[in-house]
This record gives sequence, structure tokens and C-alpha cells, in this order.
Amino acid sequence: MNAEELRAAEYSELWKIFIVMTPRRILITSALPYINGIKHLGNLAGSMLPADIYARFQRLRGHDVLYICATDEHGTPAELAAQAGNMDVRIYCDEQHQIQRDAGAGFNLSYDWFGRSSSPENHARTQYFARLLEQNGLIEERTSKQVYSVDDGRFLPDRYVEGTCPDCGYEKARGDQCDGCGRLLDPVELINPYSAVSGGRNIEIRDTAHLFLLQSKLQDRIREWVNNSHDWPQLAKSIALKWIDEGLRDRAITRDLSWGVPVLDTDGQPRKGFEDKVFYVWFDAPIEYIAATEEWANRTDSDWKRWWLTDEGADDVEYVEFMGKDNVAFHTVSFPVTLLGSGKPWKTVDRLKAFNWVTWYGGKFSTSNQRGVFMDQALDLLPADYWRWYLMANAPEGSDAAFTWEGFQASINSDLANVLGNFVNRITKYTVSKFAGTLPTSGTPGEDEAWMAEELKNRLTALNEHYEQMEFRKAAAETRALWAAGNEYLTRAEPWVKYKNDVDAAAIGVRTGLNLVAIFAIIAQPLIPETAKTILDTLGIPDENRAWPDADDTNLLDALPHNMTVQAPPVLFQKIEDAMVAAWSEQFGGSDA
Ligand code: MF3
Ligand code: ZN
Repeated sequence: MNAEELRAAEYSELWKIFIVMTPRRILITSALPYINGIKHLGNLAGSMLPADIYARFQRLRGHDVLYICATDEHGTPAELAAQAGNMDVRIYCDEQHQIQRDAGAGFNLSYDWFGRSSSPENHARTQYFARLLEQNGLIEERTSKQVYSVDDGRFLPDRYVEGTCPDCGYEKARGDQCDGCGRLLDPVELINPYSAVSGGRNIEIRDTAHLFLLQSKLQDRIREWVNNSHDWPQLAKSIALKWIDEGLRDRAITRDLSWGVPVLDTDGQPRKGFEDKVFYVWFDAPIEYIAATEEWANRTDSDWKRWWLTDEGADDVEYVEFMGKDNVAFHTVSFPVTLLGSGKPWKTVDRLKAFNWVTWYGGKFSTSNQRGVFMDQALDLLPADYWRWYLMANAPEGSDAAFTWEGFQASINSDLANVLGNFVNRITKYTVSKFAGTLPTSGTPGEDEAWMAEELKNRLTALNEHYEQMEFRKAAAETRALWAAGNEYLTRAEPWVKYKNDVDAAAIGVRTGLNLVAIFAIIAQPLIPETAKTILDTLGIPDENRAWPDADDTNLLDALPHNMTVQAPPVLFQKIEDAMVAAWSEQFGGSDA
């Protein structure tokens, strides 16, 4: 056996940080980011980041996880953004998809697949659902009033028309929503409408046909389905029930646009009267959760049906969705109508985690007003782990959460640099200088170690519970509390004091401390994966021994192979200086913005 094989053998015997159990199968999706423009930190914190952390946690527990996301590419925002840049919309989407994909990789979002709602798979799957819904009497053609621009020679859906809000009088309300008061609008409600394309005010209200999804027919089914859903976090359930109580309304699922999924007749030909129409973006986007899984399966030779069809193996899948609160109605009402209305055994969501907003000092993120940091800019300033940590330690769970540079600075300097960074440094450096860089074998655990073992057990149990409940703020707080308990342990055990008279008594402190370093890094993996990897790599811990610790394991504080070599990792975190805060406030907006 060479040294490495020996090391691996020692681990498999001694490192008991393994959980043996029947793996659960967990399907995770995060709301699909709109294609137009790179997302800001608030978007990241409210869906993709927590989904990634949950996925990482469950993988480390040994479960079978599939984490799917994609860009949401259709609809007026994409068409308008492409036009503004004088670009073909498909080429625009190709570029933007790549940018978002790179940003996701930069933040270490561990997607199993990051797809595109413009994929052939999604076209086919969207048309499949429309066909079944129509066969089941849940789609019907209705004539409705639409805004028509004589100057542009076309109908103006959603954001193609702007005007004055009938409610609050805001003069630049968009056809689908007023930014002044937040109300959802129908374009025909706007006062003094004008075309967002040409500015033309020669507007008429004309009749045209659209497909309507008869949601009202499924009102009772959906209510029953929501009532039967257990353990949905509070925010999601209350929003869903509010919508159902207001009564489900039939809604148009087609639009007068060219960029989107075409509307076909039963022979697969363009449907008569719908040649210039496509499906509404909110109809095809959630279907992309399924289609993206198909994209993944087609490219990796995997089976997607066992994740999505309950008669094809998905009956034991737990499906968890992550999203911002504005998305809840679409995921608790509209998408379930599509799935249940199809009459086929599609998997519906089991647990739905919704977030409030991250604000920028209490206000909105805005590119044009230079307020806030966007995903690509953030990574130019500091590594992903810094942002990941702060955003989750301050997750917008109970209420909105403000990003402030001052809060960011305090959290990084205290939690990461002082509490975790110092602990790791102190004990590894001490091992190198006083124990020749070898994990000491002598000494027997005493009172202090018993205290630490108890802390570890209790806090790990709590941490598991917070992750299972998808309480990210609490999970970060508990992670920090564990690190802090390690510091407290060193203060109690004082190996450096004991060393002078009793090397064995110091040795047990050092050995316990080194095991804590490993455990602290292992449990930090979901939140700060890069730093955790640096620590575990420096200690030389094999990949297969980085699995989530079992809180009831009594060997946790003596799991590392005795006599293993120990090195000190490089400085783990750079402190954020006041001068940096000042410069960034200037550049991205700060307290006085
Ligand atoms: N693009 C939407 C948003 O950012 C979310 C779409 S989620 C999906 O609000 F379910 F439609 F995919
Ligand atoms: Zn308004």
C-alpha cells in the first residue's frame, strides 16, 4: 500500500461520518430567470441560490437529487430587449443564455441541467399539453378585445403597450402591470395608450381570437389539491389560498407575437387564425421544468420519466420548487391546472418555498439608477462564497431583507473571517508549530470534550431540521453557532496553556480541534462550497469522506486518522475594509443613494 491507499483505508475504517439509509429522490426546480438581462443579487437570493443550497445539502446526505433550471426566453420582454439592441431575438437569447449560464457557474450553482424554454423539447411539450387540455374541454377559442396599433399594423400584447394606469394615474404603466402601484392590468384598461414599439398613439381596440384556459372548471380540484398539500411553508400556502378564494378566472394563453411556441391544430399545422400568435410565456415557462429535464435526459442518456410521471417511477419523488413570492400563484394555480387538466399522471409540486424581496437599502435594484449589484459585477469584487453567505444569512424569509454594504461587511468580517477563518487557522498553525504537523494520538477526552460533543450533537440536529424545513436564515445562523462553539471549546480547553506542563492534555485539545475543522468545513459545503473545499483539500480528506455527518455518531470528534499530516490552509477570507465599502457605495449606490 502506498501512502495514499493507506490513508484511504484508514478513513474507511475510522472516519465514520457516513449515513447509511435508503436514499430519497428529490426533484428541485428554481423559478426560471427571464432571459432579458443578467439577474441581480436579489433574484439570486430568492430562488436559485437557496435551491442550490438545498440540493447540495440533500446530495451530501446521500439522496438522489435532480436540480433543474433554465432561462425563460419567450414573451414581450425578450422581444423588446432584442429590438432595443437591434438584434434578432434568437441570437439575442443565445447570447443572454450563455451570460446567465456563466454567471450561474461563477456562483457555483450546481444545476444538473440549465436549459432553455425555447428548446425543441419545450415546443413539443407545450403543444402536447395544449392538445390534451383542449381534448379535455379545458381550452376554448374566444374572441376578446385587444389593443391594436394602426401605425405598427399589429396587435400590442402586454408590454408592447404603455399608458396611464386606471388606478393610480401613473403615466408609464405597462400593459400587463403598473409599476406605480403594482396592480396587474389588461392592456385595454390603460388610459391614453401608446405603442412601446413606435410611440404611435393611433390605437384602436379590435376583436381577435385567443385560446382561453378554463381554469374556473378546475377550481374545486385545485382547492382540494392545495388543501391536501402538507408542509408547504406558510408564505406559499397563504398566497395560494388567497387566489383560490378570489375564484379562478379563465385566462388567455395565447398572444399576438412571433417569438414563442407556435399554436398548432390537431394535424400539427399552424392553427387557422393563429398564424401570427404564439402561446403566452406564462403557459410555456413552467412546462419547461419538464422539458428541461427532457433536454438533460436527451444529452446524458438518462430517464426523465422517472422524475415526472407517477406511473413511470416518479411516485416516490419529492418535488420541491423555489421562487419569489410574485411567482406563487403561477405555481400553485396555473401550472397545476395544466398538469391536472391534462388527465395524465404528471408529478405535481410537493413543497414550495417562496421568498420575499431582497431590497437595496430598502428600495429597488435598478440598472439605470446604478443601485445594486448584479451577478456578474459581484464576482468581479469578491469570490462567490462571500455573497452566498451574506445572502443566506440574511435570506428574505419572514419579510423583505435589505442588502447594505455595512451589513455585508459586518457579516463577512465577523462570521467568515473571525469565527470560521480564525478557528481553522489557529488550530492548524498550532499543530504545525507544536506537533510537527501531525495529528496527535495521545490524551484522553475529558469534561471539555464532553461539552463539545454535546454541543455538536444538539446543533447538528437543529441544523438538519432547519435545512429540512428550508429555513435558510436559521441554517446559516446554526452553522455559525457551531463554528462559534468551536472557538468556545478552545477557550475552555486551552491547549496552548496546558502544553507547558502536560503535552498529552494539550494533544487531546488539538486533536479535537482538528476534527472540528473537518466537521466545520463539511457542514459549510452547502453555503460556502469553495472555501469548504479549500479546507478539506488542505487536510487531504478524500471526497467520499465529505458526506454530511450523522448527529448521533459518537465518534465525530475522533474520526480523523491518527498521525495524519496536517497543513495550515492559506488565509481563507479577506476582511472587507471601510475603504472598500466607501468605494463600492460610490460605484453601486449606498446608504445615501
Ligand atoms: N421568469 C419568471 C420570473 O422571473 C419565472 C418563471 S418560473 C416558471 O418571474 F415557472 F414559469 F418557469
Ligand atoms: Zn397604477
